[in-house]
Amino acid sequence: MSPTRHKNLKILVPCIAVIGIMLGLVAYSPTLYRLFCAATGYGGTTQRTASGSDAVSQRTVTVRFDANVAPGLPWRFEPEQNEVNVQLGENKLVFFSAENLGDQPIVGHATFNVTPGSAGIYFNKIQCFCFDEERLEAHQKVDMPVVFFVDPALATDRDTRDINAITLSYTFFRSTNPGGAKDLSRFVASAEPNPARGQQLFSETCAACHGLEKNKTGPSLAGVFERKAGSAAGYNYSSALVQSGIRWSADNLDRWLANPRKFIAGVRMPARVPNASARRDIIAFLKQESQQRAEPTAGAIAQSSAD
Ligand code: HEC
Repeated sequence: MSPTRHKNLKILVPCIAVIGIMLGLVAYSPTLYRLFCAATGYGGTTQRTASGSDAVSQRTVTVRFDANVAPGLPWRFEPEQNEVNVQLGENKLVFFSAENLGDQPIVGHATFNVTPGSAGIYFNKIQCFCFDEERLEAHQKVDMPVVFFVDPALATDRDTRDINAITLSYTFFRSTNPGGAKDLSRFVASAEPNPARGQQLFSETCAACHGLEKNKTGPSLAGVFERKAGSAAGYNYSSALVQSGIRWSADNLDRWLANPRKFIAGVRMPARVPNASARRDIIAFLKQESQQRAEPTAGAIAQSSAD
């Protein structure tokens, strides 16, 4: 081998090694980045929590949503609302829709971050599709819920107290670890009603105003299914609701939850549930609760046989 050839090789071999390492880093960068961020809280990594916040403050922030799909994943993925205003400490339910445009089932994994990054430690997610590997069947479309709250401590930290808007961004990647993925079909709108999910949605979106034992800001909803509207004992209803003369059938509950004031003008409930599959599951929960209340023994038997 000539001396120049030898010299060239001495340069070429390390160059190839470096390129190889760099390609490896690029291929695994989503995973590495996720591990790095989870370990350090860097880059606006958010907090995951099992339960909601207890304190709600008057201060509000705007939360904007952004959804992206990495190259190589034939999914359409977008937020169902561009932004929401939330009180600090308030539990908020929002939806993202995802559709697999391909002919094969695919497992995706979402990474997420918030900007400004300093708000990341105050952004808490209770329920999110981003915790798991998620499989979407060919051509399936789903509405995926995210429940979050912004910690009231945001308003007292010197680095974050001037923040009025936070952006939550997701990017879906093709999963590098598809084994054991969860099935996103649990969020398909035409799926069977799921009272357990309804109970969770109830505690996240209704329980601030409604109890099942006593009246709060709103009337007690114990046994509300098929009950006459405006009839919870001791609650001071709007006259519009009392005079409506309706009963809370599944159909009426669905129209009520979609938009109470459009359904019955002059009523006082300020909340709405725009997502049809969330309404379906909340109503399934209210129905189950009412039936168990009417027949406590039948409920107990159903419960014990379910165990
Ligand atoms: C911010 C408070 C608030 C939230 C959140 C809220 N509600 Fe209400 N709700 C009210 C108020 C106030 C009324 C009474 C309306 C009136 O008298 O016009 C009401 C009335 C109702 C009624 C009629 C009950 C009756 O006795 O006739 C139903 C049913 C109901 N809410 C269901 C729900 C469900 C389910 C959720 C969760 C998805 C929910 N509400 C979320 C405040 C709230």
